[in-house]
Amino acid sequence: MLKSIKDLHIISGFEMKQKAKKYEDEGHPVIHLELGEPDFDTPKNIRDAATKAINEGKTHYAAALGMPAFRETIANYIRKQKNIPSVTANNIVVTPGAKPILFYTFLSFVKPGDEVIIPSPGFSNYQVMADMQQAKTVNLKGTEENGFRVKAKGLFPLVNEKTKLLILSSPNNPTGALIEKEEMAKMAEFLKDKNIVILSDEIYDRLCFDGKKPISIASFPSMAEKTIIVDGFSKSYAMTGWRLGYGVMPEAIAKEINPLVVISNSCTATFTQIAGIEAYSGPQQAVEDMKAVFERRRNLLVKGLNQLPGVSCPMPDGAFYAFPNFKSYGMTSDEMCQYLLETAYITTLSGSTFGVDLDGYIRLSYATDESILEEALNRLETALKKLR
Ligand SMILES: Cc1ncc(COP(=O)(O)O)c(C=O)c1O
Repeated sequence: MLKSIKDLHIISGFEMKQKAKKYEDEGHPVIHLELGEPDFDTPKNIRDAATKAINEGKTHYAAALGMPAFRETIANYIRKQKNIPSVTANNIVVTPGAKPILFYTFLSFVKPGDEVIIPSPGFSNYQVMADMQQAKTVNLKGTEENGFRVKAKGLFPLVNEKTKLLILSSPNNPTGALIEKEEMAKMAEFLKDKNIVILSDEIYDRLCFDGKKPISIASFPSMAEKTIIVDGFSKSYAMTGWRLGYGVMPEAIAKEINPLVVISNSCTATFTQIAGIEAYSGPQQAVEDMKAVFERRRNLLVKGLNQLPGVSCPMPDGAFYAFPNFKSYGMTSDEMCQYLLETAYITTLSGSTFGVDLDGYIRLSYATDESILEEALNRLETALKKLR
């Protein structure tokens, strides 16, 4: 548990990028597979909408919870895309990126000593946020044998009277695993009478492959009343640097969160929100095209990883990460990441930063060109051969 802000331990792609700089400065051609960021440009219609808004002087504060027209646009999208017909603009809280919704949820609902159920493997921010609130985390584990897909029966024994918050993440970062519809239905049935808030992280839900469709827990009866959906534009519209996200939550929670938004951010940039309206209302072909490219890259990378001696990697359902197992090399995840950086000039993220019992796994992002992924696989093969 956190005693001081100095105890916050974050290992993110940003840090790894920094580490790689030393090798780049020495002239080594580093392949970056660490960052969770699409390599595509933001679609032109979205950029144009923002430029026009700036030139029209839409550069002042907006309403704290979001511009009414944007909240309306998002509500409309949620009703259709996630099949939650009850959602209105009053349920939407617009934020600079999706991360603030995580912050507001923890600040609002989690006190010292509370229990928070988080996915493991899962996005490392959940653990950090729980540490900040001096809460205890309980791990909802996905295993490699199941392609890291969490199951309802894994959840049931974890819930007790101290449980305040449950985080679900589908598709998951770092594994890309979906929670299947039947499992989600069982979880919803179990949770509907429980006094637990559910944070459903759906930031990758437009990036699902093999024709698979994610399902939001909030779309099951009575679940929208206890769920905060986290979503945004960073991943599916290649808008990471714009900082544009939102939460979908019961109106009473949106009202409670309002002061937190005012204190921390005042509002989200006006012209960015106008770009968001264009993203959701304009043509969607660019999103489909990016998804198709990600799917091709996934196929290439995962096939290549499984051909490497001593490496296994389940097929991710979505997002743009692979989570291979390198355990047979007898190194910790941190050691393997460091080894790959030093010998193959490839940046990756250590699996152990994504949860418990994950030593030996590493996360590779395939948000990069196919030719670069092929080169990365070649370098991996050479580097691993030296260890055998
Ligand atoms: C699972 C998950 N949730 C939330 C976020 C935050 O997204 P944003 O960059 O919009 O704040 C990320 C970004 O890496 C993520 O992987």
